[in-house]
Amino acid sequence: MTASYVRERDNFLVFGAPLIGDDEVEELIATVKSGWLGTGPRVKQFEREMADYTGAKHAVAVNSCTAALHLSLIAAGVGPGDQVITTAMTFCATVNAIIHSGATPVLADIDPATGNIDTTHVASLVNRKTRAIVPVHFAGRLCNMQDLGELANHYNLQVIEDCAHAIETRQGPKHAGTFGDFGCFSFYVTKNVVTGEGGMITTDSDEAADRLRVLSLHGMSKDAYKRFGNEGFKHYEVVEPGFKYNMMDVQAALGIHQLARVEQTHARREQIWNFYQQHLPELGLVTPPTEQADKVHAYHLYTTRINQDQHGISRDQFLDGMTRQGIGLGVHYLSIPAHRYYRDTFGWALQDYPHAVALGSETVSLPISAALSDQDLEDVITAARRVLNR
Ligand SMILES: Cc1ncc(COP(=O)(O)O)c(C=O)c1O
Repeated sequence: MTASYVRERDNFLVFGAPLIGDDEVEELIATVKSGWLGTGPRVKQFEREMADYTGAKHAVAVNSCTAALHLSLIAAGVGPGDQVITTAMTFCATVNAIIHSGATPVLADIDPATGNIDTTHVASLVNRKTRAIVPVHFAGRLCNMQDLGELANHYNLQVIEDCAHAIETRQGPKHAGTFGDFGCFSFYVTKNVVTGEGGMITTDSDEAADRLRVLSLHGMSKDAYKRFGNEGFKHYEVVEPGFKYNMMDVQAALGIHQLARVEQTHARREQIWNFYQQHLPELGLVTPPTEQADKVHAYHLYTTRINQDQHGISRDQFLDGMTRQGIGLGVHYLSIPAHRYYRDTFGWALQDYPHAVALGSETVSLPISAALSDQDLEDVITAARRVLNR
């Protein structure tokens, strides 16, 4: 068993603190000592292993999921004058990446039961400017990829899956990130596999994978490992203006071992999920629906809702109360139209996304990191009982 490197509790349970093992630490030290800190052999290994794990033909490592989304949109041919449909319930990065591609984001509301994009609403938004759909597998639950795939085929749209929550998500053997044209993963510190910051793009297209590699490193025709490797210096040519989005070997050093253990940490998060499913009804709190038998939920977020009328306190009062009890919680997320910038820029009105807006004002995420002990979980429930006066 590897030791875990998690900050000592010192009375406050930090939301999303990851489980890091000895293997990661040793690999990190070996990477630093090797002198090859930048994009090199460990990134290549991490890419191969991510492709193997997801079943995608290619995996291209980048330095964030935001970068993955941005590059995928460009590789999908999205640009100024295009519209891209995404969900009103996601992290701002999904929408910002669409804006940075030059396209106009268009929001669909969510299915209130799952938090995932409402495919009927998506269908009603498609017009001749629509170029792509960016579904988000919210909390780790697979979107309705059947409906979205049919829509995309019918209207010739690209599908870029935001898999930031969805590393282990699958239907039968088919992984999230392989249903559409591109899958974009995050290895941010709170995610199911962490590299500090980091991301990955999966695709089955040889052409897109080649372009993504070039775009991720300034648009240069050769990466550093090819330029400075033991085969002698090689000149490069800039073939288009790219970005500085490459992943480093110091990041991949963590990712390789995190990915090797991903099913083990998933099993622990499933136990935590089941613990909350069992205990939340006693507190008068709603539980998320269980996943259908042919699907695997990544258990990235465990969310419940706090409703002022029902619970006697607001969601934000619950957050404050839990903080005072030493338990850190998350909010995923305020809905996208709740941000004034987007409303002012795109003319979105709160009443057009009633389910996302309502969820955004009530949702709260309980800790579900694989690093949590059984005692931590008991503490979460005890604290919630006190705060809710149950
Ligand atoms: C749904 C979603 N999309 C995109 C991102 C962006 O990921 P990253 O921080 O790796 O850029 C996140 C990160 O929290 C996310 O939750």
